[in-house]
Amino acid sequence: MAAPAEGATSAALPPPSSPQYWSAVKRLFVLDKKVLFMNVGTVGSPPREVLDTLDRMHREVAAGALSAYSDFADVRAVVARGYGCDPDELVISHNTSDGMSKILAGLALKEGDEILTTNHEHSGGNAPMAQARDRYGVVIKRVAMPVGNDQRAEDYVELFRRAITSRTKVLLFSAPTYKTGTMLPIPMLAKLAQDHGLISIVDGAHIPGMMAYNFRELGVDFLAGSAAKWQCGPGGTDVLYIRNKVLPRYNPNPLPEFWPVVSSGYPEGGLPPRSSGGTASYDIASKMQSIGNSSIAIMAGVRSACEVWDGIGRTRIQDHVLGLSGYLKELIVERWGVNSLYSPKDDPRLVCALTSFAPFRDPRDVHDAEKASALVARLKDEYGIVIRTSDFPVIGSARSHQAVRVSTHLFHQKEDVERVVDALWRLSGEMS
Ligand SMILES: Cc1ncc(COP(=O)(O)O)c(C=O)c1O
Repeated sequence: MAAPAEGATSAALPPPSSPQYWSAVKRLFVLDKKVLFMNVGTVGSPPREVLDTLDRMHREVAAGALSAYSDFADVRAVVARGYGCDPDELVISHNTSDGMSKILAGLALKEGDEILTTNHEHSGGNAPMAQARDRYGVVIKRVAMPVGNDQRAEDYVELFRRAITSRTKVLLFSAPTYKTGTMLPIPMLAKLAQDHGLISIVDGAHIPGMMAYNFRELGVDFLAGSAAKWQCGPGGTDVLYIRNKVLPRYNPNPLPEFWPVVSSGYPEGGLPPRSSGGTASYDIASKMQSIGNSSIAIMAGVRSACEVWDGIGRTRIQDHVLGLSGYLKELIVERWGVNSLYSPKDDPRLVCALTSFAPFRDPRDVHDAEKASALVARLKDEYGIVIRTSDFPVIGSARSHQAVRVSTHLFHQKEDVERVVDALWRLSGEMS
């Protein structure tokens, strides 16, 4: 079957077995053809049909002067299905940072309570943790994160287990980290948290649209993820998972005390107690979704993006993007050697579609932030390829390491991976 014409929708894709399948998927997007965009970890690009939905709905709302004092139950029903949870567990909020802030502000933490986290967190999680510290006297403890290929999922369980104390109340970590693209083993860490009676919070900014996870099966209490990065929804959207019933198969612990702090749906008489069984006592996501007048168009855009992903198949997308990052890592190892990798490669439980590595031949250059930035700028100017830098502490190193980070997504193919590797090899050679 011929590939769909420019402007076609996901409903007209050829069968997945077709050799043209992924190039047809690429044509669903309006990305500038002169640029190879490989920084999806910062922001995605909505497919054409999402843009059409946004445009049509913005115009309908304007024409009818429509308001939306709503909990968007219909949109949440579609979105929750794709993420393997119920609508009462799924809020579409503003972005990951917003989701993390609402989670941390909603918990009943008090002076002396400890949050156990890592030294590779994003400000989206660090800032609300710092507020809990400064406002309530909560203590933030951080484990130092390993980097590179020489690690296994079990290492993370040990790392956190050793740092848990009698005051630890929360286990909070990014999966994957945005710095090294290390996918922390969420179900194993959720189990650790459960065994110690801890509240588990995942900064999963990169999970929606990249990984085909069923949120509920992960066994965590909270997960905030962007709907505008790998999920390619409208800017300023996220999916926020909140465990809202006790399903012993996934997490037998009682639900934590939690307040929907930003809400115009909070009832005058207060909320009933949280559920202690398999049925929700109330729809907490509805309370958190109801915040004054919202955007019908943006919510329709999120729904449309999720429908495109569900139509293609979330596992198919995950396999494709991980296949490309695996290929990228192989090529990096061939040229630069395995020690240049900050992302794990060989333990399938730790991999994702973000790849970080040290691009220069001289080991002293790992500390040179200016040189890494210059490389990324020249890659854009001279080769039309967009990636980003990444810096982070490394165990045993007095100074931060400076890496480059490449995102491989559903609009990429193997030749794009070869192109970025060739360009980086040539440029880093010239700059060495
Ligand atoms: C791990 C992580 N958390 C949070 C964020 C913030 O994301 P958002 O822009 O959705 O708030 C990012 C952004 O890159 C991130 O990588």
